[in-house]
Amino acid sequence: MNARGGRGTATPAYMLQTTTGAPVMVLPDVESLALAVATSVVVEARRAVKRSGRFAIALSGGSTPERAYRLLAERPFAGQMPWASTHVFWGDERCVDPGDRRSNERMAREALLDHVPIPEAHVHPMRCVPPASGGAQRGDLTSRLARDAAGRYDKLLRAQGSVPDLVLLGLGEDGHTASLFPGSAALQDAERWAVPALQGSPGSAGSSGGVEPLWRVTLTPACINQAGAVFFVVSGAGKAAIVKAVVADEADHGRSPGGALPARLIRPVNGVLCWFLDEPAASQLREHGGA
Ligand code: 6PG
Repeated sequence: MNARGGRGTATPAYMLQTTTGAPVMVLPDVESLALAVATSVVVEARRAVKRSGRFAIALSGGSTPERAYRLLAERPFAGQMPWASTHVFWGDERCVDPGDRRSNERMAREALLDHVPIPEAHVHPMRCVPPASGGAQRGDLTSRLARDAAGRYDKLLRAQGSVPDLVLLGLGEDGHTASLFPGSAALQDAERWAVPALQGSPGSAGSSGGVEPLWRVTLTPACINQAGAVFFVVSGAGKAAIVKAVVADEADHGRSPGGALPARLIRPVNGVLCWFLDEPAASQLREHGGA
């Protein structure tokens, strides 16, 4: 896991395992975390292309993966990625204009996709754009748009013949991942690969605490768990408690107000699950003698 290029190293400070045996790589800081993620994305990409001639990745939003995306757009990683054979999907998206600062598509384009030779036809945004008049986030109209957008994305993924080879995920302080919030019906959806999700809905214990409800579209655990590999990428001391709850505590079901922690539902059936943490995010694992 060494990355070269004068940037330091992506060598883990130490490694642990989750209670289910998944590797947990702990990196000393956010820069090494990004290096480790970029290095591993390249490894997965090259492996997938060797195996099947293409590599499909689902990107996560949030602030944590942005540095890894920027690294993938630079040397040496940009030159190592098989861009012509790479397809990019999203794990979740907010129902906002793609130019909106909250858009996961915008972040990924600005940090990565605008700077690499990936064919535009290989970029598959999860678009759910509300009407320009605004104020529709709460209304039936946006819920219908989210449902239609999810249906289109479900079809798009199925038309590819398989779920992405690699799914990148973040972790919220309430245990959400992608736009799978505690208590959401999406958690139990065994059929659909993409569904609408309302962050901060009355029935969900989403992390929005006081934030205006926002419709989103998200991949489901049923989809993510069929991926060849799933990487959780988490940084910061603010995530230490939830990281411990998700990766180390067996008996967490029922801890969150909405029931099971969504991130604990991510258990690839045949694929590999790997956690990438910086030391602050991993700090409560060590206190307990490992994950
Ligand atoms: C998003 C993601 C969400 C995110 C986590 C962690 O688009 O916001 O769907 O699941 O990955 O909330 O976000 P941070 O990396 O910003 O902490």
